Amino acid sequence: MKKAFVRRMFDDIHARYDLLNTILSFGQDRRWRKVTVKEMPSSGMIIDLCSGGGELARALFARPDFNGQIVMADISMPMISHYRRILGPRYSGRYFLVICDVEDLPFRNSVFAGAMSAFSLRNLTSLERFSREVRRALKSRGIACYLEIAHPQNRLLEAAFKLYFYNFSPRIAGLFTKKTYAYRYLPGSLKAFPRQDEVIRLIGQGWAECNYRNIMGGIAAVYRMANG
Ligand SMILES: C[S@@+](CC[C@H](N)C(=O)[O-])C[C@H]1O[C@@H](n2cnc3c(N)ncnc32)[C@H](O)[C@@H]1O
Repeated sequence: MKKAFVRRMFDDIHARYDLLNTILSFGQDRRWRKVTVKEMPSSGMIIDLCSGGGELARALFARPDFNGQIVMADISMPMISHYRRILGPRYSGRYFLVICDVEDLPFRNSVFAGAMSAFSLRNLTSLERFSREVRRALKSRGIACYLEIAHPQNRLLEAAFKLYFYNFSPRIAGLFTKKTYAYRYLPGSLKAFPRQDEVIRLIGQGWAECNYRNIMGGIAAVYRMANG
């Protein structure tokens, strides 16, 4: 039910998603993706989970020492179809597109050296199932790293952030898109999303290492897992 809604919603907002992400985060989304891709190995096959058009893949390709390949996996064809605009011919032959559900990955065991995602955990149905699937598809000593909007620890910052994210961001989005239901859902999905320690509890089972680090006081967080 949630999955079908989420897929239809991203099909619906694909045209304005990247632009609005950058406007609503005041351009911080790009900086946060750079922080996230620093954790990825410099070679081998990496999977970008819930890739959209590939903003995170582009950030990894831009890392000077990265010479690997990237599989972009997303459930929404319209979202992933932006890959041409985002990646262009520059990296052709180094990335592959797969339409799939990341909670049920269509890959053999132990194929990827790294797995990464940005702004996607909130949209999933089961974090435990997702995490099991990622661990299964990663090689031993593979690294997984997820960027997600989070809950600030400082009460004042949390109140200010919530005021902006829940009340102002849907109104700003309304100036650029008629799909306002989506920009009510996206902030609303953070309300239902657990705090960082609870996320670690849900995704951490079975990993040799699992931790997170807050960005900007916890407005966002990067979760990092290492396979044994
Ligand atoms: C908020 S966008 C993030 C896009 C991109 N990662 C970025 O850096 O901006 C979330 C993406 O997750 C995809 N998605 C949601 N649920 C999914 C699932 N179960 N399996 C695969 N993709 C999914 C959506 O289609 C959408 O492209």
